[in-house]
Amino acid sequence: MKVLGIMGSPRVKGNSDILLSRALAGAKEAGAHVEKIILGRKHISGCKDCKKCNKTGLCVINDDMMEIQEKILAAGAIIHSSPVYFWSMTAQMKAYLDRWCVFFDADWNWQKAYASQMRGKRIGLITLCGDTNVHAADSIVHSFKSAVKMTKMNWLGAVMASALGKGEIAANETALQQAFALGEKAAAF
Ligand SMILES: Cc1cc2nc3c(=O)[nH]c(=O)nc-3n(C[C@H](O)[C@H](O)[C@H](O)COP(=O)(O)O)c2cc1C
Repeated sequence: MKVLGIMGSPRVKGNSDILLSRALAGAKEAGAHVEKIILGRKHISGCKDCKKCNKTGLCVINDDMMEIQEKILAAGAIIHSSPVYFWSMTAQMKAYLDRWCVFFDADWNWQKAYASQMRGKRIGLITLCGDTNVHAADSIVHSFKSAVKMTKMNWLGAVMASALGKGEIAANETALQQAFALGEKAAAF
């Protein structure tokens, strides 16, 4: 059982990274193999909407999303972590998410080649925001939750936390525990 962590902040060792690492520690303790991908260290272009993948199941863009796509397929659960940038997810996370188009046909059904691996996949989310009201991140939760609903994957839940300075979240015991529990759930589902 593999749990994949997708880190969407450009700030390595920042708040999103710290909570994602806690989540992966929880998954590991529950017996999963874990891997973290730092999107900021990858080259991922935005989707071109060329629709070629609708027919072929293959993306025309030859970049790091190709290897990430393989890891997505192999994972039982994926936990995403993103800070809020202007009431939304980061550009890195959005480029990654838009490239999920490759898994679908023209009617937004799973490509036949991927359906057995994608159906029922478990998706979790961690959001960070500088605002003391964690609902500043609602649009990110909405994006992921809606995608999970549309595709009949399994929603593991979201950990939403507030922190502004780099690494500040390390002092938030509640958020650390919630992230750990999310990882345990991802592994144990
Ligand atoms: C470009 C940019 C835009 C931001 N926009 C928001 C925002 O709209 N709302 C908010 O609450 N925090 C905003 N923040 C603050 C970050 O969400 C916050 O500092 C977060 O803890 C960063 O997480 P990280 O350490 O994982 O990068 C913004 C930060 C940056 C750099």
